[in-house]
Amino acid sequence: MSAEIDPVKLMKQEVGKAAAERVLSGTIVGLGTGSTTAYAIEHLGNRLQSGELKDIKGIPTSFQAEVLAKKYGIPLTTLDATDHIDIAIDGADEVDPQKNLVKGGGAAHTREKIVDSLAEQFIVVVDSTKLVETLGSSFLLPVEVIPMALSPAMRAIENLGGKPELRMGVKKAGPVITDQGNMVIDVKFDSIANPAELEKTLNNIPGVLENGLFVGVANVVLVGEVKDGQPLIREF
Ligand code: A5P
Repeated sequence: MSAEIDPVKLMKQEVGKAAAERVLSGTIVGLGTGSTTAYAIEHLGNRLQSGELKDIKGIPTSFQAEVLAKKYGIPLTTLDATDHIDIAIDGADEVDPQKNLVKGGGAAHTREKIVDSLAEQFIVVVDSTKLVETLGSSFLLPVEVIPMALSPAMRAIENLGGKPELRMGVKKAGPVITDQGNMVIDVKFDSIANPAELEKTLNNIPGVLENGLFVGVANVVLVGEVKDGQPLIREF
């Protein structure tokens, strides 16, 4: 029986590697969260091990990124110990033509926004299924909320025209708890016509820590595609 290669996995692998190839020796690197970035972290580790890349330090955006960085031998630092981030590599759940993003499918968008926004260059790595004309069309918008504010925050979101749903755990009874000990509301908006305005409005609800709209943060988007069975990387 011949092993079928999953095309989405192949796109994620190749685009993750392509981003890791752009990292230079001696730099501070923001390490994103998710299955695509995991391939970038692995490739950074391989480059360090081969000696081709030297003296980088990673700043993880989640517990997942931290665990992977340790597994692949990437030294870590913190935002207290460094005053800049040269480059960040992170995935996304949706990307629009203006390079605005929806993130938070892994409930890590709060730390991701801190790290990705600080980076001099933020490279987004996605497979082609993530490209949309309008944000909110294929993915619910994640909003991290402090537990005691859950009910009023959900009501406030409904008043804005959103349909909120508390994110529940998989292989864990009860809600997803973020790395900060909070909960995530996934919100369906009919359309997100003005992402910059919605990003601010949501963050203004008392008890909301951060939402998954990343407006004007991405510098480069690398898109993994498969054409005639072959992976290729497109930049926009
Ligand atoms: C984590 O909270 C997210 O922002 C991820 O970066 C996003 O969900 C992309 O994940 P995948 O690369 O697994 O699709």
